[in-house]
Amino acid sequence: MAVTAQPKLDVQRIRADFPYLEELVNGKPVAFLDSAASTQKPRQVLDAMREFYEHRYANVHRGVYRLAERATEGYEGAREKVRSFVNAGSTREVIFTRSATEAINLVAYAWGLENLGPGDVVVITELEHHSNFVPWQFVANRTGASFRHIPIDDAGELQLDSLDEIAASGRVKVVANNLVSNSLGTINPVERLSAWAHEQGAIMVVDAAQAAPHRTVDVQALGCDFLALSSHKLCGPSGVGALWGKAELLESMSPFNLGGEMIRSVALERTSWNELPYKFEAGTPAIAEAYGFGVAIDYLSEIGLDSIEAHEHELVEYALGRLAELDFVRVFGPPADRRAGIVSFDVDGVHPHDVAQILDWEGVAVRAGHHCTQPLMARLGVAATTRASFYLYTIPEEIDRLVDGLVKVKAQLG
Ligand SMILES: Cc1ncc(COP(=O)(O)O)c(C=O)c1O
Repeated sequence: MAVTAQPKLDVQRIRADFPYLEELVNGKPVAFLDSAASTQKPRQVLDAMREFYEHRYANVHRGVYRLAERATEGYEGAREKVRSFVNAGSTREVIFTRSATEAINLVAYAWGLENLGPGDVVVITELEHHSNFVPWQFVANRTGASFRHIPIDDAGELQLDSLDEIAASGRVKVVANNLVSNSLGTINPVERLSAWAHEQGAIMVVDAAQAAPHRTVDVQALGCDFLALSSHKLCGPSGVGALWGKAELLESMSPFNLGGEMIRSVALERTSWNELPYKFEAGTPAIAEAYGFGVAIDYLSEIGLDSIEAHEHELVEYALGRLAELDFVRVFGPPADRRAGIVSFDVDGVHPHDVAQILDWEGVAVRAGHHCTQPLMARLGVAATTRASFYLYTIPEEIDRLVDGLVKVKAQLG
């Protein structure tokens, strides 16, 4: 991972863009360490969305009057920004969805239900978010396909030596994996899995919800067939995400949602579908939110994804070093060079919800729970963990406050 040669982030200047970071919690400056769940929003995105709603808002695609044209330009302009952000070949391949979850469901339903059956194998991993686990489990059950997982080792890395045995168990038709694990931060070998999937004649579905905010994501370099991402995890508004898919696959699929906008013509006898990407965008989309998604992409791109990745790498290295000083804390997952800015841990003798509650009194916001990865929690032998996650606005002093807070947690409850 190229982490040293990037221009350093001016984090104090970046922090000034985020209104929430100016607030006090319990009289203390907030240390927001929950960006993996959702990020804070910079003024640039908030201001742009306000301006859009005030002066550029109308329904898209249908109007001939000027305001509707302006709204359509904003919405379609955002599609081009997503295309460029993931290095897709065409905006026809970029579908706006409600979330990364909806993007994956679209593929599971529209591709999976029509292409899977008995004897086929759907492969996911032990560290998938439920969003990339449950839809595939459901579709496998519905179609009679078998549902297999790639296990992880004790460090939270995929055990790729299981692939041969999985391949021998049937016709592998789908491989679905996250590029970055939301619970452990593990960076997964998606390029390698894509190549393996294609050798089996399978499609590769990448959940990039947790990767796209933090590192350059290039669908062509990954060699995948579908990729899902989400706006709210990369400084954009909630309520919008995107699916990228190869045009020939999207062309071959039936629509996922039905209604207005996704049709070419409707008659009592027969309805035909609109061209890509509109075939998959039924109804009024999240117009201003898609626009805000595009502004967030501009914001991150101007700062530089490589610099953001390098900053997070320094933070995670620092955090792992500081947490190692606490003999009552057990950290899960791989070493710093194999993970993004996410650290899950267990505090000996204290439930994660109590850890998070006491840290909140100290102004430190972390997440406690299963992080929508219950199969992974079962593998780790815990019901829940405490998770701290970092982003471009995180500073090492906030990690120090986390560590000081954990010492208090242990003193009070451990
Ligand atoms: C790895 C991963 N996949 C999928 C999702 C779901 O994304 P969304 O909130 O856009 O549905 C998340 C959100 O936590 C995630 O971390």
